[in-house]
Amino acid sequence: MVKSRSTKTKKPAKKPAAKKAVSAGAKLKIALVGFGTVGRSVAKILCQDTNGPLLLTHICNRRIKKKKDASLPKHIRWTENFDDVLASDADVVVELIGGLQPAGDWVRKALRVGKSVVTANKLLISEAGPELLDLARKMGKRLEFGASVAGGIPAIIGIQEGLAGDRLYKIAGILNGTCNFILTKMEKDGTSFDAALKEAQALGYAEANPSADVDGLDARAKLVILIQAGLRLRVRSEQILCRSISSIAAVDFMYASSLDSTIRQISLAQKETNKTVRLAAAVQPALIPAASLMAHAQGSQNIVTATGEFGGKTMFSGYGAGGDPTAVAVISDLYAIARSTGASAEALPGTAEVPDSVSGDFTVPHYLRFIVRDRPGIVAALATILAKYDISIDALLQKPGFPHSALSFVMTLEACDSAVLNRALEEIGRLDFHVEPPLCLPIFLD
Ligand SMILES: NC(=O)c1ccc[n+]([C@@H]2O[C@H](COP(=O)([O-])OP(=O)(O)OC[C@H]3O[C@@H](n4cnc5c(N)ncnc54)[C@H](OP(=O)(O)O)[C@@H]3O)[C@@H](O)[C@H]2O)c1
Repeated sequence: MVKSRSTKTKKPAKKPAAKKAVSAGAKLKIALVGFGTVGRSVAKILCQDTNGPLLLTHICNRRIKKKKDASLPKHIRWTENFDDVLASDADVVVELIGGLQPAGDWVRKALRVGKSVVTANKLLISEAGPELLDLARKMGKRLEFGASVAGGIPAIIGIQEGLAGDRLYKIAGILNGTCNFILTKMEKDGTSFDAALKEAQALGYAEANPSADVDGLDARAKLVILIQAGLRLRVRSEQILCRSISSIAAVDFMYASSLDSTIRQISLAQKETNKTVRLAAAVQPALIPAASLMAHAQGSQNIVTATGEFGGKTMFSGYGAGGDPTAVAVISDLYAIARSTGASAEALPGTAEVPDSVSGDFTVPHYLRFIVRDRPGIVAALATILAKYDISIDALLQKPGFPHSALSFVMTLEACDSAVLNRALEEIGRLDFHVEPPLCLPIFLD
């Protein structure tokens, strides 16, 4: 016999209003927290589509007087107080203030009072994604963060859902539009790093303090999220090697071009499972073939590739930043919640494995660029040290026209372990003919 539920007219236990399931046909009520670049775009798109299942009901931001946009519908409640959002009947909180705090506390509070959350906050998800997903699951709510990596490109959902049937072992990408703008500018116009950075700042692509972008920290946070979503490994940002693109000079693009290559900031993570689980991961400038799809990502475009045991390589590309593209990812997450108000998808499982080891070492060919005070015997001295570490030279390139006081030349090396090469470079760095420390870049051929 199927037990029917009691029909006694007992007063139902008081539940928070927001915990109610969204009934069929009802609109999903949305509270937008953070009315900046992305928040404005989200509000604009939501308010244009009045027939859909999504209804913007609240906007929360500090100093609201300055922010209020009279062109938005009158029913929207504006507030400076996040508690108003918590107490409201909104079903979903869209967190777009950025940073770790108060964003982290607000996301936790929203989940605890029974609201689902959509966020574009890569910092927060890379730091606390698994914990927040556990909380969302416990509360029977959703936490979605499709916009946190590669803005408008559906990379997270593509990897988690579209490639769920594969066993992914490698994720690679161009994840920072600012670095890509700077490097493609240097490549095209032959400008210096400083000049390209200045232009990126003037156009609003780079912050006054560009460190998070050029030193790789922004891409690293995104790589951590992709490693968790695609490789199912739990790592902390600090475990991942980051190298700045600021050491790249115009001359490197000249030499790269002679090698049918170019230079991009590449985020790469590779998982090896063989009794132990090893992760090699790094964000760094690297040489890649000029004919590769990665090399074709221009300006602020992003690319994510995922390689699996069964399906091979899949690529996602498009605009990785900007208000409107990022808003698309936010709204797609809202539609996903509107379609199913069930518990959080297995997005970043709290049970993701912790790898046995994490390193930034890849066994690949390398590019070494030297600037030296010229004198006989330099190449022999370098070759002697490399031979000591069992590293073979592949080619030697020297463009004409450099002064003897600062002569630049390049060596490419056959595939070698970057940890071994680093030891050789320490010794090489002590030689007395350098004008600048040697530049070492990995060469990623696929
Ligand atoms: N912009 C992009 O292209 C992009 C792409 C992908 C992901 N994201 C992510 O999206 C999120 C939002 O980025 P955004 O570019 O829209 O940032 P933004 O333009 O700086 O907007 C943030 C908004 O939040 C408000 N805010 C910040 N802290 C607050 C607080 N404590 N209380 C109340 N309001 C607060 C700010 O108010 P004030 O104006 O008063 O400071 C501002 O209106 C970030 O997590 C970012 O990483 C952005």
